[in-house]
Amino acid sequence: MKLITVGVLATLCVATFAVQHPHDKVVCFWNSTSFERQGPAKFQIEDLRPALSLCTHLVYGYAGINAETHEATPLHPNIDTGAGYAFFRTVTQFKRTFPDLKVYLSIGGNDDPYEETHKYLVVTETSETRAKFVNSVGRLLTDYDFDGVDLAWQFPEVKVKKKRGFFGSIAHSVKKVFGYGKFKDEREQDHRDGFTILVRDIKNLLRQRNNKDLTITVLPHVNSSIYYDARALTPNIEAVHLFAFDQKTPDRNPKDADYPAPIYESYGRAFDENIDGQVRYWLEHGTPGSKIIVGIPTFARTWKLTADSQISGVPPLDVDGPGAEGPQTLTPGLLSYTEVCTRLTETTLGTILRRVSDPSKKYGSYAYQSYNDATGADGIWVGYEDPDTAGNKANYVKAKGLGGVAIVDLSLDDFRGVCTGDKFPITRGAKYKL
Ligand SMILES: *[C@@H]1O[C@H](CO)[C@@H](O)[C@H](O)[C@H]1NC(C)=O
Ligand SMILES: *[C@@H]1O[C@H](CO)[C@@H](O)[C@H](O)[C@H]1NC(C)=O
Repeated sequence: MKLITVGVLATLCVATFAVQHPHDKVVCFWNSTSFERQGPAKFQIEDLRPALSLCTHLVYGYAGINAETHEATPLHPNIDTGAGYAFFRTVTQFKRTFPDLKVYLSIGGNDDPYEETHKYLVVTETSETRAKFVNSVGRLLTDYDFDGVDLAWQFPEVKVKKKRGFFGSIAHSVKKVFGYGKFKDEREQDHRDGFTILVRDIKNLLRQRNNKDLTITVLPHVNSSIYYDARALTPNIEAVHLFAFDQKTPDRNPKDADYPAPIYESYGRAFDENIDGQVRYWLEHGTPGSKIIVGIPTFARTWKLTADSQISGVPPLDVDGPGAEGPQTLTPGLLSYTEVCTRLTETTLGTILRRVSDPSKKYGSYAYQSYNDATGADGIWVGYEDPDTAGNKANYVKAKGLGGVAIVDLSLDDFRGVCTGDKFPITRGAKYKL
C-alpha cells in the first residue's frame, strides 16, 4: 500500500516537474524609465496590462549597484520606490489580476552607465562584497514581493572587430572607437569564478525565501565563453536569457551597417555573432534547452546612408553613423516598432522605405532609403524586427527545444496598436509560434 502511494507521489512529482520546465516562456522585459519619454512614446504602467495576458514573466528593468555599499539598489528611486509612483510595488501587485504571472527584478542591463562596469566586477571579487550584494537582493525581493531576481550583469564587452567582413575595405579598417570594448579585464578568470559563487550564494538565500527564482541575462557583446561558467551556473538558475542581438550597432559600428539580430551565421561574420552560435555555447556546456531563453528585440537599429554607401542596400554596408532619430523615441540610430511600421506604410515622413524581407528566415529583415543624389538628402538603413521575424525566432526556439523567448522590451513594441490595431504585435508574433 505504502509503495503504491509512493509510486503515485513520484508520478505526481514528475508531472509537476514537467510543468515547471515549459518550452513556451514569454519573458517580457520592461524598461520602467520609458515612463519618462514624452508624447506617444511615453509608456505608462497601465500600458503593461494588455501585455500581461501574453507574458509568462515580467522583468522590471533595471535596478543597479551602489558603488560604495556593493548593494543592489533602485537606479531611479523617484519612479521605483518613491511615494508618487512606487513602480516596484505597483508592478508586483499585477499578480493579483494575473495570478500565473511571475515578476522579476533585473539588475544591470546597461542601465548603470557603461563607465561603471567596474562595480559589477568588484562585487564578484571578495566574500564580503558578495555577501553585501546577496543580502541586499534578499531584502529587495522580500520588501517588494518580487518572485525572483535577474542578473543582467554588466561584464566588460568584447572589443569591436576592427576588420570588416569578407570585403573588409582598408579605408574602414581603422575606426575611431570610443569606449566600447576599450576596457581590458586583467582578471577575467577571477570574475568568472566570483560570479559563479555569487550566483550559488544568491540561490542558497532564495531557497530559504519561498524558493524565489534566479535567472541571468547575457547582455549583448558579453562573451559567454569568457564570463559564464555554464556548467557550474546551470543547477542554480531558472533560466539564462540570451540577448543575442545588437550584433552590430551604430554606436559600436558607426561605419558598418549589418543585420542586428541574425539567427544563423552568415558568410564573413563571426561564428558566435548570432543567436545559434550563442545558444550552442550553453547547450554544449551542459545547460538543458528548457533553461535557455532567446532574446528578441522590439526595436530597430538604423544607420545613415551617404553618397558613398552601396546602392544595393545589401548588408554589410558602408554607412556614416546612426540614422536620423524617430519622431517618438527621439534617439539617433534607434526606432521603435511603431516608428518602423509607420515608415514602411506612410509617406508623411518622407518617402516610403524600400523593404527587403528574408525568405531564408535566417538573418532578418531590413528596409532602406538611399542617399538622394538630386537633393543631397541622407538615406537610412534600418535593420528591424517585425511579427514575422519574431515568429521565425520563436520557431527556432521551438525546433531546438529551448525554453522560450524574451521580449526586449515591451515599451518599444507597438504598445498602442498603431500598426495593425493589435497591441504588442511583436510579442504576439513570437508567442503564437511557440
Ligand atoms: C530606457 O528608456 C530610457 C528612456 O527612453 C532610455 O534613456 C534608457 O536608455 C532605456 N534603458 C535601457 C536599458 O534601454
Ligand atoms: C569569445 O571568446 C572565445 C574564446 O574564449 C572566442 O573564440 C570568440 O571569438 C569570442 N567571441 C567574440 C564575439 O569575441
